[in-house]
Amino acid sequence: MEMQAQLSSLLAKASDELQAIRTRPELESAKARYVGPHGELTAVMKQIASAPKEERPAIGKLVNESKARLQALLDSALARIEELELASRLGPPIDPTLPPVDGGPGTFHPLTLVREELCRILRKVGFTVADGPEVETEFYCFDALNTPPEHPARDPQDTFYFPQGARFANVSKRNPGERYLLRTHTSSVQVRTMLKGPPPIRIISPGRAYRRDTTDASHSANFHQIECLYVDRSVTVRDLKALLDYLFEALLGPGTKTRFRPHYFGYTEPSFEVDLSARHLPKVRKEWIEIGGCGIVDPEVFRSVGYDPEVWTGYAFGMGIERLAMTLYGIDDIRVFYQNDMRLLKQFSWGL
Ligand code: DAH
Repeated sequence: MEMQAQLSSLLAKASDELQAIRTRPELESAKARYVGPHGELTAVMKQIASAPKEERPAIGKLVNESKARLQALLDSALARIEELELASRLGPPIDPTLPPVDGGPGTFHPLTLVREELCRILRKVGFTVADGPEVETEFYCFDALNTPPEHPARDPQDTFYFPQGARFANVSKRNPGERYLLRTHTSSVQVRTMLKGPPPIRIISPGRAYRRDTTDASHSANFHQIECLYVDRSVTVRDLKALLDYLFEALLGPGTKTRFRPHYFGYTEPSFEVDLSARHLPKVRKEWIEIGGCGIVDPEVFRSVGYDPEVWTGYAFGMGIERLAMTLYGIDDIRVFYQNDMRLLKQFSWGL
C-alpha cells in the first residue's frame, strides 16, 4: 500500500512542521502547502481515481482520516498562535502574590469635598439628604414647578429630551404622555419629595444636572447642584437668609457675607439670586460672586403636590457646586474637574 506510506509520512512531516509554527502567515502558507488546491494532501487525493476499484473504499477512508488529523493539527496551531497573541497583548506574566505598588493614600475629588461639607453643615441643623433621578420627566422638572410648556422661563432649559418612545422603568411618570429628559436642575427633587409625604419637610439634595451649554471655562453641559427645601408653618425670607448666612459662614468662616438680589423663578415668590462675599479668603478676588437662586415656595407649587397653601409655607434654594469649589480653591476653569488630571486632583485632601 504505497499510498498509506505516503500519507503517514505526510502526516509525520506536517505534525513536525505545524508544531513549530508561531505566526499567522506561517500558518496560512502551511495550510496552502497541505490542503490548498495544489497542496500535498490534495495531490494524494487525486490519486484515488487511478487506484483499482476494489481498493478505493479503503483508500478513501484512509484519506479522510488523514484529512481530519491534518485539520486537527492546523486547529491546534491556530489555538497556539491566538494564545501567543493574547500573551503579547497582556504583557509579561503577573504574579498576583506580590504586594501592590504603593500609590500613596488617595484623595477626594474637590467636588466631592465641597458636596460633603455642604451636607455636613446642613445636616447639623436638621436637613436630611433626599435623592432623585437624573433622567426626569417634564412634570417633575417643569410643570409641577409652575413652569408650563409655553412659559418663557422654560426656554433656556428646554434641552435634552429623550425620543417619545424611550422607556425608563425606574423613573416614575405622573402623566402617561410625558416626555423624559435629563434634569436641568435638582429642583425636581423638591416635587418628588413633597409627593412622597406630608409636611413638615427639611431636605437637601446634591446631584448632577444637565444644560444645553457649549463647554468653555465657565460652562459645562453637565455639572452639579445642591437643592434645599424647607416646608413648615410661618416660614419667612428671614429664615431663608438666616440659613444661608449660617451655611456660608460655616463653610467659609466668619466674615463671609451673603446678599439677595430680586430675580424671577417660577417656583418661588419672591425670588432672589444669592451673592456671596468672602474677601477674607486669599483666593477670592471679586467682591460679590453669584452662587445660586432661592426664594419663598410659590403657592402654585404646593397646589400641584396637594399641599394646602393656606397652611404651609416654605423656602427653597439651589446652587452650583462647581461654582463654589472654583471660588474656594481658586480654580478658573470648570473643565479641570472632569479631566482626571492627577496633578490637579492630588492637591486636595479631606477638609476645605
Ligand atoms: N433651579 C435653579 C437653577 O437651576 C436654582 C434655584 C432657584 C433653585 C430658586 C431653587 C430656587 O430651589 O428656589 O438655576
